Amino acid sequence: MISLEEFRLIRDYIEKHCGIHLTDDKVYLVETRLTTLMIEQGCKSFSELYEKSIADRTHTLRDKIIEAITTNETFWFRDMHPFGILTEVLFKRLTENILSGRRNRIRIWCCACSTGQEPYSIAMTFLEFMRQYPGIRPEHLEILATDISSTVLFLGKLGRYDNLSMSRGLAEDLKNRYFETTDNKIWTISSDIKKMVTFKKLNLQEDFNHLGKKDIIFCRNILIYFSMEFKQDILRRIAALLRPDGHLFLGASESIIMYTKEYEMLRHAMGLYYQVK
Ligand SMILES: C[S@@+](CC[C@H](N)C(=O)[O-])C[C@H]1O[C@@H](n2cnc3c(N)ncnc32)[C@H](O)[C@@H]1O
Repeated sequence: MISLEEFRLIRDYIEKHCGIHLTDDKVYLVETRLTTLMIEQGCKSFSELYEKSIADRTHTLRDKIIEAITTNETFWFRDMHPFGILTEVLFKRLTENILSGRRNRIRIWCCACSTGQEPYSIAMTFLEFMRQYPGIRPEHLEILATDISSTVLFLGKLGRYDNLSMSRGLAEDLKNRYFETTDNKIWTISSDIKKMVTFKKLNLQEDFNHLGKKDIIFCRNILIYFSMEFKQDILRRIAALLRPDGHLFLGASESIIMYTKEYEMLRHAMGLYYQVK
């Protein structure tokens, strides 16, 4: 069993290295998520695991601890509304600028992309949109997908999903159009979609200014894990990365109104999104 002292040691260590803020009622979560790793590492206690991780200069164990703690839950077209807003509002506006020669591409960043369902859903939305707009090509959209976890990035890049993942949010016609299978068990996303997404490791604690200006940023179902100060810090840096007319999407249960003055909340149909001021 993890002691309160050990919990606090590990909790502070986790927050320092990935920003995830765990309150005292998360003792059980830390214990359940780290027990297997503790045993695998041959450690007899959580403090031994912590000491071993501190001593590991390669940071391999630290990354494993972070991976065990993070929640990677994701699915296709999560919350639906962002994808409707892309089609009905933002892609329409931004591609008009492409067709008129005022810009050459749309740049989107998914900053906590997990196993790829979110960036690939954006890519499918664009290809569907393109069907009605001759002159627009897949190269007109550039999607950068980042995450702190090497494991989810590896799976995202692979683009292979089992039937359970495929059954979560993906319409049958899109499944048939954009995936291939040889055994009806594992489905591989088409190379046309894969080409549109670049996966890269990035911890949101790091400076991300070098990524270059973005038109749209998806920062969904991640801020909820961070402290108020860290949320404010990320939102400020995201605002600075967005183009003057850029937009931000959050998860359905997230709101940033109390954290920041940098954005104006917009509504379309039943969905919410934010425009940088
Ligand atoms: C719940 S998933 C959300 C996935 C997707 N955005 C969605 O809404 O379906 C949260 C992701 O955030 C990643 N994450 C956690 N801390 C992070 C950090 N400091 N920097 C970057 N990614 C982080 C996790 O590895 C995980 O894949």
